[in-house]
Formats: sequence, structure tokens, C-alpha cells
Amino acid sequence: MPKYTLFVNGQSMSVEADADTPLLWVLRDHLNLVGTKFGCGVAQCGACTVHMNDVAMRSCSLPVSAVGLNKIVTIEALSPKGDHPLQQAWEELDVAQCGYCQAGQIMAAAALLKKIPNPTDKDIDDNISNICRCGTQVRIRKAIHLAAKNQVK
Ligand code: FES
Ligand code: FES
Repeated sequence: MPKYTLFVNGQSMSVEADADTPLLWVLRDHLNLVGTKFGCGVAQCGACTVHMNDVAMRSCSLPVSAVGLNKIVTIEALSPKGDHPLQQAWEELDVAQCGYCQAGQIMAAAALLKKIPNPTDKDIDDNISNICRCGTQVRIRKAIHLAAKNQVK
């Protein structure tokens, strides 16, 4: 089986996997980073969102052979203590319902704030298409605005 060296959460890691194995399964099954979730498997729902070079990527549809040494960050390493302004805002506004989609939502929101530090509602709608079947989108939007206000400039 081919061997790949990946750069995940600030560390170089080696994995053996078939070339077409989605990054999602490498993260979850090989590296035990289970905060990234499987939803649809076809790049539609966003539950599997991670960052590749600070851009939101759907890891279910990214083969491990295409990752190279691009910088991958998962929810586990978004902040050292789970205290990213988005995570604080999520907690303050009690955003999560069942919670299943929320890691992906936060990763998508974090990538948006890197690109647009103070996004409008339209920016949020245009950039985040992650699905929440519990209907938390209104609170997600509020939390993104709160985090944008609170984030360290
Ligand atoms: S599991 Fe990847 S987008 Fe749904
Ligand atoms: S909180 Fe349940 S799917 Fe989003």
C-alpha cells in the first residue's frame, strides 16, 4: 500500500492508504482525529470540513494522494484550548443542537473569517453552504457575527 506523508495540525504524519482513500477516513481511522464527521460522502453537507492552507475543504471528497504537504488543520487544532472566538461565540449563544454538523460549521466559519474578518449576512450565505438538519443556521449566523466582533484584530 502506498505511504503518504501529510502535514496535519502542525505535525508531519505518515500513513499507509490506498491512493483514492478520502482524507476524511485517513483523519478519522488512521490518525484518530474523529472531530471531523462523515455526513453525505459526496461534498454536499460540509460535516467533513477541514482547512487546507486556511481554505475550507470537504475532506470526504479529497483523495489522500492529492493532499501532498499542504497544511491541513482539523477542529482539534483550530485553537489550543478550544477557545477560538468562534468556539467562544458558539458556547455563548448555545448554537449546537445535536452537534453532529457543528465541527464542520465552525471550520467553515473560521475559513470565512480569515478571508472576510467582518462578514455580512450575504457573505455568510455565499460562503457557507454546510447543512444543519437541526435548523441551527440562525444561531450560527449570529455566532459568526459575535466572533467577528470579538476576535483579536
Ligand atoms: S461528508 Fe463531506 S460534504 Fe458531506
Ligand atoms: S446541530 Fe444537528 S445537524 Fe446541525
